[in-house]
Amino acid sequence: MRKIGVLTSGGDSPGMNAAVMAIARSASLYGMPLIGIKHGYNGLLRKSTNIHDDMQELYLDTVLDIADEPGTYLRTARCLEFMNPEYRELAVKTLAAMEIDGLVVLGGDGSFQGAQRLCELGVPCIGIPATIDNDLGYTEMTLGFDTAVNVCVDAVRSIRATSRSHDRPAVVEVMGRHCGDIALTTAVSTGSEIVVVPEVPWTVEGVADQLRKQLAKGNTRATIVLAEGCYDAMAPFDLYGYLTTHGKPCYEGEPMSAVRFASVMKRMCGMVEARATTIGYTQRGAEPTARDSAFAFEAGNLAVKLLRDGVANQVIGMKNGRVTYMPIDEALSTERHFNRPLFDLVNSL
Ligand code: F6P
Repeated sequence: MRKIGVLTSGGDSPGMNAAVMAIARSASLYGMPLIGIKHGYNGLLRKSTNIHDDMQELYLDTVLDIADEPGTYLRTARCLEFMNPEYRELAVKTLAAMEIDGLVVLGGDGSFQGAQRLCELGVPCIGIPATIDNDLGYTEMTLGFDTAVNVCVDAVRSIRATSRSHDRPAVVEVMGRHCGDIALTTAVSTGSEIVVVPEVPWTVEGVADQLRKQLAKGNTRATIVLAEGCYDAMAPFDLYGYLTTHGKPCYEGEPMSAVRFASVMKRMCGMVEARATTIGYTQRGAEPTARDSAFAFEAGNLAVKLLRDGVANQVIGMKNGRVTYMPIDEALSTERHFNRPLFDLVNSL
């Protein structure tokens, strides 16, 4: 294998640039030219009139400065066209025309499915799990998760300080899509008293009971960490009916949100105030932590080495604290396990 390509796909994730830099350094060491493909899989679909808007050769001096930078230098996108076989065939033709013999794909589950399809069409691919969500069952960590958690931990610590000053509870919503790992790790790391996740069914009344218990213990600044996907696991609750009969205007059919949840808690638990914060995209746009950067460094090197040695159709991951790899099919069919005992511990103390 001579020339290889790299792309970042899906939601950006802290550490993507560090991985691209490690890939560039390794490719340079092994004498393999490296093409950076822009805007995820879109860069393979000849959408731009100027090829340089779709791909560029990555030289060491271009990428040496980007390792610590947040975001992704190559840009990213969720490319829906790639679900269509015709577009995937076009991508294969583009790679052949550019004499790119193998591809490193940084992204999450959807991006890996794209890589798997390319593998089936004969393009050797290596995946690096890059998503803040930590929602891939085959690996102990995904690139960006640690940074996202650290952003949440900083935010929750600050929120808990002001909560303490005002003796009022706080509701904090964190990202993670359908995965509660960011919420759970944040709760554990900050001593937050209640955590609500999509993996465990819950009721609004049940969380209010938990909060009342905290208040009864004299804890006036309890923190409820909500995973953004937790509303999917919430038992039906008449938000409109409850709020409008408790003096809070609300639109009929309005969905539950962190702000609305705080309003409900305030009323159910008879508190003067409860405040809500949604941490949002700061979790994705932060500088990578040392742990994420170190994973990026090793994963980037391993990806290039595997392509160089003709070992293709693999994804890199972390097992027993070591960077390793496994076939992409096996990885995608590995079930994810949520740490239920830890979840129960947080909610029981
Ligand atoms: O997958 C990463 C992630 O940040 C999720 O946690 C979140 O649900 C989603 O992306 C948000 O995506 P978008 O950038 O399209 O708003």
